[in-house]
Amino acid sequence: MRHLISPLDFSVEELDKLINLAYDIKDNPAKYAHTCDGRILATCFYEPSTRTRLSFESAMLRLGGKTLGFASADSSSAAKGESVSDTISVISGYADICAMRHPKEGAPLVASIHSTIPVINAGDGGHQHPTQTLTDLLTIHSLNGEIKNLTIGLCGDLKFGRTVHSLITALVRYENIKFILISPEELKVPSYIRQLLIDKNIPFEEVVTLDDSMSKLDILYMTRVQRERFFNEEDYLRMKDFYILDKAKMALAKENMLVLHPLPRVNEISVEVDNDPRAAYFKQAKFGVYIRMALILTLLEIEV
Ligand code: NCD
Repeated sequence: MRHLISPLDFSVEELDKLINLAYDIKDNPAKYAHTCDGRILATCFYEPSTRTRLSFESAMLRLGGKTLGFASADSSSAAKGESVSDTISVISGYADICAMRHPKEGAPLVASIHSTIPVINAGDGGHQHPTQTLTDLLTIHSLNGEIKNLTIGLCGDLKFGRTVHSLITALVRYENIKFILISPEELKVPSYIRQLLIDKNIPFEEVVTLDDSMSKLDILYMTRVQRERFFNEEDYLRMKDFYILDKAKMALAKENMLVLHPLPRVNEISVEVDNDPRAAYFKQAKFGVYIRMALILTLLEIEV
């Protein structure tokens, strides 16, 4: 039995397969509409979510399966003090596969150890978010044609932004990828991510201003300052509007640069950018359903 806890749980070849399956699902939805008949997905979300939880549920429903779950820790027995390992032991009897989001780093990993069904990490604290990475990879592949020879700027909260950590972790295995890491001094990537880039000999720079890098980028991955991970509100307020991508900044960028954002957005992308053909974040959210459908089929070992 397989789980998806880290972006490295799938090899590049397996990711290619998953992306191709997602394309086939997108092009032939009827072929997949009953592939999960009789199967149940549990969504155990101990932290807020819109896209991840609903795209998982949409994915399972579009495959013919059913879903159950909870959308906050308050509405689960976690509020009574139940451990993640006890919860997953029970859910293993209620569902065939489980997507779990938790504020504690490593909680989905703990769940996977105690589970008899596949567990998917749907975001663990400020650590990793591998299914957002699958979404990001499909988006890049689809809109750019390939995942190589790219200068990727990641901008915003690189310290607590788990989507950033997972995307970098996955992308270091692709050919000729360069990173420009754009963040305030206090929100630079954690040292384990910097060390990964050094160990893999991946070219990267860490800078503070966005303007100077705009013209070099093939992809700009914007992120929200992760308020819920800050220790005090004062620091959050100081940092929250550090970067605002607007029309003036977009004018500095390549004509075919893609703007991605895992969403939700707060202020970091001005709504005036939404109509720019380079703004790809809403398309990106839609790709999340196809790749999660592909993931569910793969982890349940359902051949179509
Ligand atoms: C991200 C997350 O939860 O980490 N959202 C998402 O899953 N699309 C990004 C964020 O919350 O800023």
